[in-house]
Amino acid sequence: MRRKIVAGNWKMNGSKDLSEELVGYVRSEAESLDNGVEVVVIPPAIYVGDVLKQAQGQISVGVQNVGQWQSGAYTGEISSEMVRDAGCRYALVGHSERRQLFGETDEAVAIKASLVVSSGLSAIVCVGETLEERESGRAESVVSSQVRSGLSLIKQDDWHSIVVAYEPVWAIGTGKTATSSDAQSMHATIRGVLKSMGAPAEEISLLYGGSVKADNAAALFAEPDIDGGLIGGASLVAKDFISICRYFPAGA
Ligand code: PGA
Repeated sequence: MRRKIVAGNWKMNGSKDLSEELVGYVRSEAESLDNGVEVVVIPPAIYVGDVLKQAQGQISVGVQNVGQWQSGAYTGEISSEMVRDAGCRYALVGHSERRQLFGETDEAVAIKASLVVSSGLSAIVCVGETLEERESGRAESVVSSQVRSGLSLIKQDDWHSIVVAYEPVWAIGTGKTATSSDAQSMHATIRGVLKSMGAPAEEISLLYGGSVKADNAAALFAEPDIDGGLIGGASLVAKDFISICRYFPAGA
């Protein structure tokens, strides 16, 4: 059985007050979800401690990024060990904003993913093509190569801690979503790549991200290879985020 996950990536948004309000609402509503979805919130790192206290283990908490070293003189960075020590369960790795704005390479993604899982956390490794890559017919090859390189350092025993998020760059924060059948087709490709790498592909959860909203979540989550969502903008509105969690079909 694959984990069903809906994760809210707050990015660099919010405040202490908004964070309290969001987590309070999401935690209370998450208790009544009966579809087996694991709800994850991924706040800015400065709020993680408060969110963990408030979440009380009822919802999972993650970070948006980790450093690519174990420890040492890396001012401003946070290690995977620290993230686990603080009580988080998840870390995002290789979000397209990190790749595009902070020059994060496939090599850095591979190192971070391996540090995250060897620390005992789950890594949500993000992949996705740009509009130009899609329009020139290279979407599948770009995404396949990101999966192969980003997960190249994962040891056989650690695959159960890997989650892959397919987020077409052109769909992030733009209001444009991949159609559910395009997303399904890329998810099937990703699963094929994982299989070819010797991973237990049928057990690895694949999330879709990019303008997921309450009105398109149901169609996306109905696809056989879409095991949940990575939600940006809509995760900052507590009711919308919970509606997305509810759209997951029970027993899927
Ligand atoms: P969005 O962001 O839902 O605002 O498009 C998704 C993401 O970047 O994870």
